[in-house]
Amino acid sequence: MISQRQLFLEHVGQTSDFPLQLEIERAKGIYMFDTDNKFYIDLISGVSVSNLGHVHPAIVKAIKSQAEKYMHLMVYGEYIQTPQVEFAKKLTKLIPEKLNSVYFVNSGSEAIEGALKLAKRYTGRSEIISYNNAYHGSTHGALSVMGNEEFKNSFRPLLPDVNFINFNSFDDLKLISEKTACVLIEPIQGEAGIRLPKDNYLKELRKKCDETGTLLIFDEIQTGFGRTGSLFAFQEYDVVPDIITIAKGMGGGMPIGAFVSANEIMSSFKTNPILGHITTFGGHPVSCAAACASLDVIVKENIIEKVKSKGELFKKYLNHPEIKEIRGIGLFMAVELRDFNLVKKVIDIAVEKGLVTDWFLFHDSAFRIAPPLIITDDQIKEACNILIESIEESVK
Ligand SMILES: Cc1ncc(COP(=O)(O)O)c(C=O)c1O
Repeated sequence: MISQRQLFLEHVGQTSDFPLQLEIERAKGIYMFDTDNKFYIDLISGVSVSNLGHVHPAIVKAIKSQAEKYMHLMVYGEYIQTPQVEFAKKLTKLIPEKLNSVYFVNSGSEAIEGALKLAKRYTGRSEIISYNNAYHGSTHGALSVMGNEEFKNSFRPLLPDVNFINFNSFDDLKLISEKTACVLIEPIQGEAGIRLPKDNYLKELRKKCDETGTLLIFDEIQTGFGRTGSLFAFQEYDVVPDIITIAKGMGGGMPIGAFVSANEIMSSFKTNPILGHITTFGGHPVSCAAACASLDVIVKENIIEKVKSKGELFKKYLNHPEIKEIRGIGLFMAVELRDFNLVKKVIDIAVEKGLVTDWFLFHDSAFRIAPPLIITDDQIKEACNILIESIEESVK
């Protein structure tokens, strides 16, 4: 009989010659179980998605309940759909007043596409400034603002009038001008290997955007929903952007994204042309119901409160001469090793031992720690023991 593995390789579009090929049958909390019932600790949350762990009962309940009421009814923006309204109400209560309008889409890349369009439409300008080593998704617009030539070169031509500056360079802020529609930034760069903004950098960036009438967009797609120890990273740095993009952890495991801005800015999609941004499935009611349930749990169970101390616990237990640095904030961390070869060995051995971690798209000498935020202290210890053993075996 042809195995699932063979069928996967033959019929499911592949993106590399070496996919992980774990065959997961079920998942619960921080654990995933394969077809032989071997369990794996998920230290990456499906890349910053499963913030409440896998198959959270409140999320499953909300999904079932909404699926029984209605699923897709109409393209985005026409009908009053309670799960969308509820989520928008809950979210906007938790963030600054000026971010009071939520446009729902299906993914992170789409949130970026919408946010870039909105900035161009609102300002009437065309220049977009992004960052070297930034990752914002893989669709054409998102690819155009990706700060890595290797990944985008084969897909040119891309969007014109996109310029790149260096993260944390105060000098480069000079390049933002009255021609700039928006600056798009991950407040903490993820795929660059978890790079934190220097003191005051985001404040200076905000100031420069204010001076030039440029919209400031924070991509909170990885950093959102508690990962850094705040609901959003911008709250860590006391800077309020004009637009935030969200996705990943938003849906508690269901696909959804959004860009959030001020009503006054968002309204520019209503005219010239009418229907300035269109999506069929954006804010799918079942995904919105999941997002509501997830946000409720995050808030009611004070999930975010312990995120920073859990991050510190990782730093305490991950003590090994081969570890050069642990960068990050909350449960959004990079463990820096000597080089890619060692990282690859550690990742492979860890998977054999039942722990999944990963490297970063634009930085291959570190591995990622971004577990579900519900990970317990004992589970952190268990995960760190496996990682230390994996490092030991890799350098033997
Ligand atoms: C910071 C950031 N922005 C945007 C995206 C794109 O999101 P999606 O894969 O849902 O399109 C990602 C995905 O990894 C991301 O990390």
